[in-house]
Amino acid sequence: MGTRRATDIAREIAVIRLCLAGATGWAGSALARAVAATPDIRLVAAVSRTHAGRSLGDVLAEPRLDAPVFGTAAEALDRPADVFLDYTKPTVALPNVMTALERGLHVVVGTSGLTDDDYRRIHAAAVAAGREVLAVGNFAIPVVLLQRFAETAARYLPSWEIIDYASERKVDAPSGTARELAHRLSSVRPPATGVPLEATMGERAARGADLGGSRVHSIRLPGFSLSTEVVFGMPGQRLALRHDAGPSAEPYVDGALLAIRAVGSVVGLRRGLDQVMDF
Ligand SMILES: NC(=O)c1ccc[n+]([C@@H]2O[C@H](COP(=O)([O-])OP(=O)(O)OC[C@H]3O[C@@H](n4cnc5c(N)ncnc54)[C@H](OP(=O)(O)O)[C@@H]3O)[C@@H](O)[C@H]2O)c1
Repeated sequence: MGTRRATDIAREIAVIRLCLAGATGWAGSALARAVAATPDIRLVAAVSRTHAGRSLGDVLAEPRLDAPVFGTAAEALDRPADVFLDYTKPTVALPNVMTALERGLHVVVGTSGLTDDDYRRIHAAAVAAGREVLAVGNFAIPVVLLQRFAETAARYLPSWEIIDYASERKVDAPSGTARELAHRLSSVRPPATGVPLEATMGERAARGADLGGSRVHSIRLPGFSLSTEVVFGMPGQRLALRHDAGPSAEPYVDGALLAIRAVGSVVGLRRGLDQVMDF
C-alpha cells in the first residue's frame, strides 16, 4: 500500500469555517493566531471597525491568515461559514449572535456581560433557527476544572467563601468568573455560616458581597491579572482551590478552540465549557 500524500489526508479532515468578531482585540487576536496554526479550523472572515477593508494577516502580522476584515458582522456573514464566534462587547454581541443565527450558523459567545434575559432571547432564536449557541464565560480549562472540583467539594464541606483578585483597572466586581462560581455553589447548597451578617459587629461590608448565599470578596490591586479562589473551611483544616491567570490571553485559546469544534451537536443554548467536556 502506497504512502498517503498530505493533500489526501487534508481532504479527509472536516474543516470548520469560522467567522470571528473581535478578531483584532486582546482575546480575539490570540485566538486568530492559534487558528492560523490549526488545520481543522479556517478563519474565513473577521470583524473589526478599525481595520475594515484590510486582510487580518496584515493586521496581525500573521501571513497564514488571509481572512478579510469587515466593519460589521452582517457584512462578514455574507461569506459562507459554519461557526460564528463573538469576542466584542455585550451591546454588540447580542445583535451579532441574532444575525449569525438568521444566517444559519452555530454560535460561540465568548463576550461576557450578556444578561439572563439576553440569553433567553438567544435560546429562543437558536431553537427557531435549529442551531446551537454555546456561551462560555471563561474558556480557561483550569477554571472549568476549578468550578467542577469546587462543586464536588461543596457536597462534603459545608462552609466556603470566594475571593477574586484583579488589577486596579478592572471596573466590575465581582468578576464574571467569581459570580459564576458562586452561582454554581449555591445550586449545590447554601454555605453554612458562623456569625449571621446582621450580628456582625463593626463593618458589615468587610464580610463581602452575598451572591446566592456565598460571601464574595473582590481585591483590586496592581500586580494581579485575574485570580479566582474558593476556600472551604472545616474545624482544624482548610481546602483552597485557586486559579491564577497572567496578563496574556493565552489561557482562553484552547477552550475557545474546543468550543468551536463542539458547537452544533444540539439545538438551542448551552452555557459553560463543561457542557462539552467529558467528565
Ligand atoms: N470567555 C472568555 O474566556 C473571555 C476571555 C477574554 C475576554 N472575554 C470577553 O471578550 C470580550 C472582548 O474582550 P477583549 O479584552 O478582547 O476586548 P478588546 O481588546 O477591546 O477587543 C474588542 C474587539 O471587538 C471589536 N469591536 C468592538 N466593538 C465593535 C463593534 N461595534 N463592531 C465591530 N467590532 C467591534 C474591536 O475592534 P474595533 O474596535 O476595531 O471595532 C476588537 O477587535 C469582553 O467581553 C471580555 O470580557 C472573554
